[in-house]
Amino acid sequence: MKDSARGSWSGHVGFVLAAAGSAIGLGNIWMFPYRTGSNGGAAFVFVYLAFVAVVGIPLIVAEVMLGRATRRNPVGAFRILRPGSGWQIVGWLGVASGFVILSYYGVVAGWAMDYMWASASGALMAGTAQRMTEAFDVLMGDPYRQVGWQAAFMLVTTVVVSRGVEAGIERASKVLMPALFGLVLVLLGFSLTSPGAPEGLAFLLNPRFDELGWSGVLAALGQAFFSLSLGMGAMITYGSYLEVDQSIVRSAFLIAAADTCLAVLAGLVIFPLVFTFGLEPGAGPGLVFITLPKAFALMPASSFLSTGFFALLTFAALTSAISLLEVVVAFFVDEFQWSRPQASWVAGGLIFALGVPSAVVGGFLDAMDGLASDWMLPIGGLFIGLFAGWTLGGDEARNGYRGKGSSLAGFAAWRFCVRYAAPAAVGIILVQSLVRFVRDFGG
Ligand code: PHE
Repeated sequence: MKDSARGSWSGHVGFVLAAAGSAIGLGNIWMFPYRTGSNGGAAFVFVYLAFVAVVGIPLIVAEVMLGRATRRNPVGAFRILRPGSGWQIVGWLGVASGFVILSYYGVVAGWAMDYMWASASGALMAGTAQRMTEAFDVLMGDPYRQVGWQAAFMLVTTVVVSRGVEAGIERASKVLMPALFGLVLVLLGFSLTSPGAPEGLAFLLNPRFDELGWSGVLAALGQAFFSLSLGMGAMITYGSYLEVDQSIVRSAFLIAAADTCLAVLAGLVIFPLVFTFGLEPGAGPGLVFITLPKAFALMPASSFLSTGFFALLTFAALTSAISLLEVVVAFFVDEFQWSRPQASWVAGGLIFALGVPSAVVGGFLDAMDGLASDWMLPIGGLFIGLFAGWTLGGDEARNGYRGKGSSLAGFAAWRFCVRYAAPAAVGIILVQSLVRFVRDFGG
C-alpha cells in the first residue's frame, strides 16, 4: 500500500500533541491522584518519576522508532523488521490490548460524561455532600445509563478516528489539548486559593515511605506503563505516521514531561479541595467520583467547578481512547487493506460490545484492568524493550534512533536503558505479579 493512503501528521507539533493526548488520560486524572493518595503521597511520586525516566522515556523512543522505521501498525512493524519470526506475537498482543483496554476505558469515560452532564444540569449538586456516595452507587446500579454514556463516548471516538490521522486525530488533539490545559489552570486557581492548599501541597510534597511498600512500587511501575501508553504499540502506531526527521528523544521527553505535569497538576487540583473539607485523601478509585464532588458541593461555584472538572476528565479520556482505537484500526487497514471508515466502525462496534460486561457485571471492569495493566502492558513492554535493545543490530538501532538534534551519547544512554534497566525493572514486576497471582488463585 502507498504510504500516502495511510496518512501522516502535518509535522512534529501535530505528532507530539497527539502522542501527549494519548498519554494524558484517565490514568493521569483518575488513577494517579488516588494511587498517590493511598501509597504514601510524595513517596509514590518519587518512585513514579524514576520509572518514567529509566523505563518510560526509553520505551517511548523504542516504540516511536519501530513505527517510524516501518510505517506500520504493531503487527506489521515486527513482520517487516523480522519476517517469519515469533516477534509478530508481540504486535498481536498489542492489538489485543487495544481491544481490552478500550472496552473498559469507554465505560469509565462514560461515567465522566454522565457526571459532566449531571453537573451542568445541576442534578449532581442538588444533593448534599453526604449524598454523593449514593449518587455514585445509583450510577453503578444503572446498567442502561452506563451503557448509554459508554455508547456516546465510543461514538465520538469512532467518528474522530474514521476521519483520519491529520483531519481526525491531529485536529481533535489540537483543540482538546489546549482546552484541557486551560481547564486545569482554571481549576488550579480555585484549589490553590482554598484554605486546604498548604495541607494539600504538603501531602504531595512530603514523602511517607512507610506507606509505600512493595505494592506501591509495583503500582508506580504499572502506572508509568499505563499513563505513558506503553507496551501495546500505541506509540509504534503514532510513530508510523511520523515523516519528519526530528530527534525522537526530544519528542519522548516532551511527551513524558506533559504527561507527568498533568498528573501532578491533577493532584494539585484535587488534594487541596479534599483537605479543605476534611475528606479522605486515600479514598481509592472513588476519589474523583465520590470524594471530589463532595468538596465541589460545598464550594460556592459548585456546578461550574464540577462541570469543568468532568469536562477535563472527558477530554483527556477522549484523546487517549482515540489512540487505543487507532492501534486496532491501523492493524485492519495495513494488514487487511480495509478502508479507514470500515475499520473504524467495525473495531469501534466490537470494542463497544466487549465493554458492555464492564458496565453491567460487577467486578468485570477491575478484572479487565488487571489483565491489561498487570499483564498485557508489562509483557508487551518487556518484549518491545528486548527487541529494540538486543534483536535490532547496532546499525539498525542507530539509524532508527537518528534524527535532527540526536547525539551519540544519548544513543548510548538509551541503549543501556532498553538493554538492561527497562527489562530488569519490568522483569521484577512480572515475577511479582506472578507470585501474587499464584498466591491469590493457586490456594
Ligand atoms: N495513557 C492513557 C491514560 O493515561 C491510557 C492508554 C494506555 C492509552 C495505553 C493508550 C494506550 O489514560
